[in-house]
Amino acid sequence: MSVKFAVLGHGVVGSGVVELFYKNKKSIEKRAGTEMDIKYILDLRDFPDSPYKDKFTKDFNDILNDDEVTSVAECMGGVEPAFTFVKACLEKGKSVSTSNKELVAEKGDILLQTAKEHNCNFFFEASVGGAIPIIRPLHRCLAANDITKVAGILNGTTNFILTKMYNDNMPFADALKLAQELGYAEKDPTADIEGHDACRKICIISSLVYGKHVYPKSVYTKGITQVELCDVEAADVLGYAIKLVASVTKLDNGKILPCVMPTLVSYDNIMAGVNDVFNAVLVYGDGVDQTMFYGRGAGKLPTASAVLGDVIETAKGTGTVLSQTWESASDDSFIENVDSYTSRWYFRVPADTEVDLGGTYSHDDGISYVTDEEMTFAQAKAKADEIGALAFMPVLE
Ligand code: HSE
Repeated sequence: MSVKFAVLGHGVVGSGVVELFYKNKKSIEKRAGTEMDIKYILDLRDFPDSPYKDKFTKDFNDILNDDEVTSVAECMGGVEPAFTFVKACLEKGKSVSTSNKELVAEKGDILLQTAKEHNCNFFFEASVGGAIPIIRPLHRCLAANDITKVAGILNGTTNFILTKMYNDNMPFADALKLAQELGYAEKDPTADIEGHDACRKICIISSLVYGKHVYPKSVYTKGITQVELCDVEAADVLGYAIKLVASVTKLDNGKILPCVMPTLVSYDNIMAGVNDVFNAVLVYGDGVDQTMFYGRGAGKLPTASAVLGDVIETAKGTGTVLSQTWESASDDSFIENVDSYTSRWYFRVPADTEVDLGGTYSHDDGISYVTDEEMTFAQAKAKADEIGALAFMPVLE
């Protein structure tokens, strides 16, 4: 028996899937326990110089109507037409493995249900953390835990930018351009720098861990466009690295609080040392205490590695992973407002502000300090308005 699969999209990730598959075909087949091959690659563009040019099609129906294709890797990105294509494949019993976080964050509940109904799999390991195995570990290896919090650096592009700002004093725009050239950024980098990409990923994690679909619109999200070089420098002096942190916390009232914010991460926290395009996810559970998952969060082959891991799983023909399912949510009443988010806070205030704190740092762009006491987001925002703060961010110890 030979498993034939199709790859939808031949951009950064899709071309990586094809490259990595043929590079490691022998060992992949050994692990899958079956021969495997790519039968189709779907893309509207022409690739006349590709060694795989005979596999290209512009017509999705070639794939959909070919019963020999039992598994599909979706690497197109965006909700449509990916959603229509993926749903149609699942309805035909073809398992789908996707790297498309927007698709999973917006439509994961529907696609999981469709897979369940048609006795096939919908896998999305590549949608969070690039190369890092995090979806299966959360769902399986850590399944015995009451997971109280997940916090992570989930966007490679912004971590790369913040690292360049920190290490090389590189202006934001130059670092972004470099990230785009290296194939890390989304087609529209707004999704990276405004935090939407990290938001989609924490939505996927939250849905998986807490069992109800968390939609991006329900999650407070702030990106890194307002993080200035002076804040990066001041944070360093105060003992912190600035990272775009996406987190979800289970609260005592039974609700969850997912959010995405630039955050001062203490140098005592292992996440502070996660640099460049690397991502890290910290999972806190009552059994494990804490675990950390680390690896390349973006890029061609790292993401392809995760997609192919899923495709190999589908080739084993293990049937549906029924429990890898979360419910649709009729409302977001189970999600706490960000106003309740509690931490110590970083403030940068104008140079003429009276500040009577020990740990302050005066520089050309004002005075920076971290509060001794914890405050809620609502209190910190009110204080920022009152003192005319130029910047304020939460602190993670
Ligand atoms: N643009 C994303 C990132 C790609 O930078 O993390 C991987 O999801």
